[in-house]
Amino acid sequence: MNPLGMLAELTHRCPLGCPYCSNPLALEDRADEMDTATWVRVFQQAADMGVLQVHLSGGEPASRRDLIELTRAASEAGLYTNLITSAIGIDSDRLQRLKAAGLDHVQVSIQDTDPALSDHIADYNGAHARKLALAEAVTGLGMALTVNAVIHRANIANLSGMVALAASLGAGRVEVAHVQYYGWALRNRDALMPTREQIDQAMQEMDALQARYAGRLVIDSVIPDYYARRPKPCMGGWGQKSLNVTPSGVVLPCHAAATIPGLTFWSVRERSLADIWANSPAFEAFRGTAWMKEPCQSCSLQTACFGGCRCQALAITGDAAAADPSCELSPYHGHMQELAQQASGGAYAYRGRKESTAAPAR
Ligand code: FES
Repeated sequence: MNPLGMLAELTHRCPLGCPYCSNPLALEDRADEMDTATWVRVFQQAADMGVLQVHLSGGEPASRRDLIELTRAASEAGLYTNLITSAIGIDSDRLQRLKAAGLDHVQVSIQDTDPALSDHIADYNGAHARKLALAEAVTGLGMALTVNAVIHRANIANLSGMVALAASLGAGRVEVAHVQYYGWALRNRDALMPTREQIDQAMQEMDALQARYAGRLVIDSVIPDYYARRPKPCMGGWGQKSLNVTPSGVVLPCHAAATIPGLTFWSVRERSLADIWANSPAFEAFRGTAWMKEPCQSCSLQTACFGGCRCQALAITGDAAAADPSCELSPYHGHMQELAQQASGGAYAYRGRKESTAAPAR
């Protein structure tokens, strides 16, 4: 079994300050980032082991001066290339050069439809306008566009508006991405968590939106974990379908795996990607079903969800080998729902700021 997708975190540098950032609390330094030649080797190794798609991500990947060279190398290796960007640092000239280098697809995140609210959430003046400009440039060049609409307490009431914006930009797909509470986002959980009433309203709206845009726009949406009854197979199952490479070359089974104590991670600076995938202790730790405890161990759905998310299990229960508490069979399921209900809104903590900032309200 080989991975199909690879998340290439080219850098942790990012001009935005989104409170829902799922990157770790401690970001990797620029000085530790892999150089161009090492990334080129990683892309070739990924293609050789059967990876089909690479997501060029970060941080903001446009912060890398060699983004065009990296894109060309990934494309020439035979990988389908998806650029995940905030739009900051990609003007129309750079986009055209990325396309010429073989870029296949662009994913742009949006915070809302209201520019002031969007910029407040992203903690960057003018971000919203630049996102719209890039999205229009992408479709103007005939490239595939996905809009990533990150949903939370401050914008969930505008779900329909965000989907309509994605459609008007010419996106083929919109990901209604409820915040996942890992990394920095976990620190802002109280401020970002929607209420039960907001979720119920959004789920009803989603049915109507699916009908309205059928055949025109693919809308990906799932119930957010804290309000779900069944867990999702995080990463398609640990060590089964995809891998992450951090800016410094550490290979992770998921983007939050480094939060799990006791795991040993290997680096592409010292070993091949194929060796790491097959033999790294971190990938072996939760691969398959042998590691499971009850209730997962005897559950008939264990190969449907693979126990859900290890990092979420750790964050809520303190045990990464426990069932994901988004599962109603988990003894921590009620506790997780209480955490959601107790969330009071509150202020945002932005990276690099000592003071919290009031969360916006619609
Ligand atoms: Fe690590 Fe889900 S984010 S397993």
